[in-house]
Amino acid sequence: MMNFEYWNPTRVVFGSEQLNRLPELLDENKAQNILVAYGGGSVKQFGLFDEIMKVLQGYKVVEFGGIEPNPQYTTLMKAVELGRKEKIDFILAVGGGSVIDGVKFISGAIPYKGEPWDVLSRVEGAVFESAVPFGTVLTIPATGSEVNSGAVVSRKELNEKRTMGGPQFFPRFSFCDPKVVSTLPKRQLANGIIDAFVHTLEQYLTTEYGNLLQEREAEAILATLIDVKDVVDRPDDYRLAYNFMLSASHALNGNLRCGAVTDWVTHMIGHELTALYNIDHARTLAIIAPRLYEVQFELKLNKLAQYGKRIFGLEGEKEEIAKRAIQKTEEFFQFLGVNTKLSEYNVDTAILLDHVRDKFQERGWTELGMNGTIQWPQVEQILKNCI
Ligand code: NZQ
Ligand code: ZN
Repeated sequence: MMNFEYWNPTRVVFGSEQLNRLPELLDENKAQNILVAYGGGSVKQFGLFDEIMKVLQGYKVVEFGGIEPNPQYTTLMKAVELGRKEKIDFILAVGGGSVIDGVKFISGAIPYKGEPWDVLSRVEGAVFESAVPFGTVLTIPATGSEVNSGAVVSRKELNEKRTMGGPQFFPRFSFCDPKVVSTLPKRQLANGIIDAFVHTLEQYLTTEYGNLLQEREAEAILATLIDVKDVVDRPDDYRLAYNFMLSASHALNGNLRCGAVTDWVTHMIGHELTALYNIDHARTLAIIAPRLYEVQFELKLNKLAQYGKRIFGLEGEKEEIAKRAIQKTEEFFQFLGVNTKLSEYNVDTAILLDHVRDKFQERGWTELGMNGTIQWPQVEQILKNCI
């Protein structure tokens, strides 16, 4: 049983038809000069952008669109320049994980005096000390970025995808309206379920850490995500959308990691796959997770068996249940329409192996996962088994 500290200051406004509350929350945060940031334009197509602009009448608003999936450093730096020039005092992120993560970076980089890339690449002494306050209007349940203080920023020309975070990067508020799910394409719906599912597994499928409540909470999220899987074909079913959005937020709002042994290696390897081959984040997780559980089978055996029994209702010998639990997980991803083999994507394995080895070495990532049990030979094995 481990000690822990939990703090999450984000105010979540959950449910539909809530945007009229936006001025109240902006005023609470003394917002006057607002940068509204969004992605490639979906929010304009389905009408949300106009709705927000109407609510924002009376505020000074500067627009910044074009934040791409896996937000790019060069694009975000343009928003940083704009934000400095316009002396903005609040940022509103309207979008998914990419826009929200992008805004977290922008909010830290605007007041930062040095080269912001140094912070992402962990140059000694380079830290975002402060941040411009920001809020979010979520458009896709997946990452949990709307309720956490982490972000991931990519830099294509360097084949880099780097993480950042800190207590100043919790959104002040997040509007989470399950109705946005109805406009999502099937690919993004499947991605969202898988990302949330694997966030939960990364904080659960380790060892028996003795926090029985957190284990049950993780299981509740996993079971709910399976219950709502038909949302990929029925995105306008509000009941499915509501529970999907709630589960994705709960998977990464910081609660599950309290008193838990976590892993996160599926994400660490997955980020490299995206950096090099631009494979959707969730798809990289669907490829790697099952193979990682196989390579760590002995270490994760008890937890895999618990997962198999409680989530898939499996019975029999412990080893058999654990094996079948991995199969069931992979089948679930495939049911959602996602390929789980590297050979189904356009990937050169030799180049990938070199890339991951070099990046992990460069970052000093030599002992990862549960008790540092994943080292380069295990990573190499996992990747080779993914083919
Ligand atoms: O850019 P637009 O035109 O808005 O289209 C987006 C984008 O193409 C579209 N979309 C979003 N909402 C929509 C919609 N299309 C129609 N209707 C809507 N309501 O969906 C596409 C993907 O959007 P994106 O924001 O990239 O998806 P997601 O939320 O999955 O975010 C992925 C990013 O988050 C990072 C990932 O690495 C990746 O960069 N992550 C962030 C985490 C965090 N901050 O805690 C944790 C995660 O593990 C993850 O690493
Ligand atoms: Zn993720």
